[in-house]
Amino acid sequence: MNVEGHRLNKEQLLWSKIAPGVWRAVIGSPAGLHPLAVVNERPQWEALRRMGDPPFPLPESAIEAENGAAGKIVRFPLHEQEKVYGMGLQFMRMNQRGRTRYLRVNSDPKQDTGESHAPVPFFVTDRGYGVLVNTSRIVTIHCGSTVRLQDTRKEDALDRNTDRRWRATPLSAWIEIVLPAEGAELLLFAGHSALEAVRRYNLYSGGGALPPRWGLGFWHRVPKLFNAQEVLDEAMEFRKRDFPCDVIGLEPGWHSRSYPVTYEWSAERFPDPASFVKRMEEQGFRVNLWEHPYVSPESGLYEPLRPLSGSYTVWGGLAPDYSLREARALYERQHEREHVEIGVSGYKLDECDGSELTGHSWMFPAHAQFPSGHDGEQMRQLYGLMFQRMTADLFRRRGRRTYGLVRASGAGAAPLPYVLYSDLYDHRQFVRALCNASFSGLLWTPEVRRAKDAEDWARRMQTVVFSPLAMLNAWGDGTKPWSYPEVEGVIRHYIKLRMRLMPYLYSEFARYHFEGIPPFRAMPLVDRTAAQAAKEGGVVENTTDAAYGKARQKEWDDQYMVGDSLLVAPLFAGETERDVYLPAGVWYGLETGERFEGGTIVRVEAGIERIPVFVREGAIIPMMPALPRAPRPGETVPLDIVHFGNAPGEYLLYDDDGETLAYERGEYVFRKIEVFRDEGGKFSARISDVREPQQGTDRGLAHSSYGPVNWHLCQTCLPFPKES
Ligand code: GAL
Repeated sequence: MNVEGHRLNKEQLLWSKIAPGVWRAVIGSPAGLHPLAVVNERPQWEALRRMGDPPFPLPESAIEAENGAAGKIVRFPLHEQEKVYGMGLQFMRMNQRGRTRYLRVNSDPKQDTGESHAPVPFFVTDRGYGVLVNTSRIVTIHCGSTVRLQDTRKEDALDRNTDRRWRATPLSAWIEIVLPAEGAELLLFAGHSALEAVRRYNLYSGGGALPPRWGLGFWHRVPKLFNAQEVLDEAMEFRKRDFPCDVIGLEPGWHSRSYPVTYEWSAERFPDPASFVKRMEEQGFRVNLWEHPYVSPESGLYEPLRPLSGSYTVWGGLAPDYSLREARALYERQHEREHVEIGVSGYKLDECDGSELTGHSWMFPAHAQFPSGHDGEQMRQLYGLMFQRMTADLFRRRGRRTYGLVRASGAGAAPLPYVLYSDLYDHRQFVRALCNASFSGLLWTPEVRRAKDAEDWARRMQTVVFSPLAMLNAWGDGTKPWSYPEVEGVIRHYIKLRMRLMPYLYSEFARYHFEGIPPFRAMPLVDRTAAQAAKEGGVVENTTDAAYGKARQKEWDDQYMVGDSLLVAPLFAGETERDVYLPAGVWYGLETGERFEGGTIVRVEAGIERIPVFVREGAIIPMMPALPRAPRPGETVPLDIVHFGNAPGEYLLYDDDGETLAYERGEYVFRKIEVFRDEGGKFSARISDVREPQQGTDRGLAHSSYGPVNWHLCQTCLPFPKES
């Protein structure tokens, strides 16, 4: 570790620099089981170094630590207008200023408490720094929701009867973290903006996940009791109807028993799993398997896992202690033999979260004991990470990438190739979750299951194609993309647009991996500070009012960026127009060509056939034909390079084999695409050769995934005919 000097503040918090822009402090004697140990990835040291060496972002003496009777508290100062983001997958708000967040894993985050499928004790502020509490225990973070007596003036007490300035949450000048009794490791990430701090957090975690190309295609999950023939028939329906699809997901019915599960194929529905997976593969489909953690007495794994399991069961099944190597080995061997070796591509890791907030309770209790000595609170907080790690390793050992779904996650998850989902279904909350996930190294899918009507269907589908995982989850409803004939053409068009965008999406994920930049990101992560935003057009978002639940519309938690160039502003059922905040510069409607001056709020209209998406002037979007499935390693597809507007531009197009881990050994390339004015003032363009490394860490490739290049310069909208 590159420890450079110690810093001592008056409350005895010692910050050691462990990488440029990253500091560490330990309070108390934290347990050895913590999220970063479970994720177990090496920080991207080189990429962290390339980001520069900023100073410690706060006066160190301003950070206070306290070891009082009620526990260990760490306190960070807040400016009056400072905003606080992060805390994992949050559904109810984006700026958490003024809120107390109780960060416990829970599958029904219906109340605004902070509990969530993926609560992450990581906050980042628009001052440009972030803090992670690396612990297996539940953490409470008061994001400017507490006021100490010593900070209170007599005149702060207002008369609610007559004084309109009275607020339910008085302004507080502190973020207070309540640490577990044993203490915890704190990691602090600096930056000139919130984005830089998030990038350092992601790079320190190991860099963002790079999915295989097929993971960025369309996904469909079939009804839970489908048999092999029904699955094949449904898959072929996609080909017949000209709907691209790369992954078919099987739900609980593939197991011989489920709830609890066996991880063994149902002999009745899948008599020959190996040939089923092979036939799917021949038609260009990957198979993804649903599972959950609780092991049925009918499973061959039950007896060997029983002595390695917790003291409480869930639905009659074992809750194994996967902090133990022997337990992991049993699970992994069985999965390897029965799924991975026959070609299964990945998993959907369900119900590793537990629930208490709806009408039912299911999960082992916090006081459950596990053979390793850990308790139920720790196991529940880390179960999602443990399953992601174990399953990702199954593929890693075979040199293959995976991409899958998970319902619980936590700190340091950026490198894990998993996307979160939920049984909740509010479309607006789903978009907000997409924004919020980007602050904490998480990916989220606003999956589509069913709809109130054709309009709701189209609006949800339009959102999901602009997300980390474009999926219809028909496990319970039996829906198909073509379920609403009135909008079948609209849905086909957008699924095909997703396929066309694959070279761009894949390159943006590569930046997540190599530079820590989230591919889908909330507006506060567009690289500008609040002060710059204010200069850009007077969009001053009042933090204090937002904290009181006022001025919610000013948070812009219903629009987001895909890469640096596309801004997506979904419409929701019942709407045909909305306000959009466009950052400074000129923007074009991606499919309309309408020109907008940014740095302000614009009003846009769009009928059911269109989702408002904007593209920056000078942007270069690499695209490909709308193939029925993603290109395989060794295949070559034509490249459509679309440049927008009247400004020169540059883009780094990423390429590798799309499926293996060879990129970790330098077998990848960033190809430089440039659109520039020649001496006569006319636009010209070039792309660097696939054998020519551009970045220093890439080595170039012998084979290019892209064949002939079609240039489309100075466009104001996509130059392709609309699919119907
Ligand atoms: C739920 C999950 C759904 C579906 C279902 C199958 O827990 O969120 O997406 O998989 O289980 O029983």
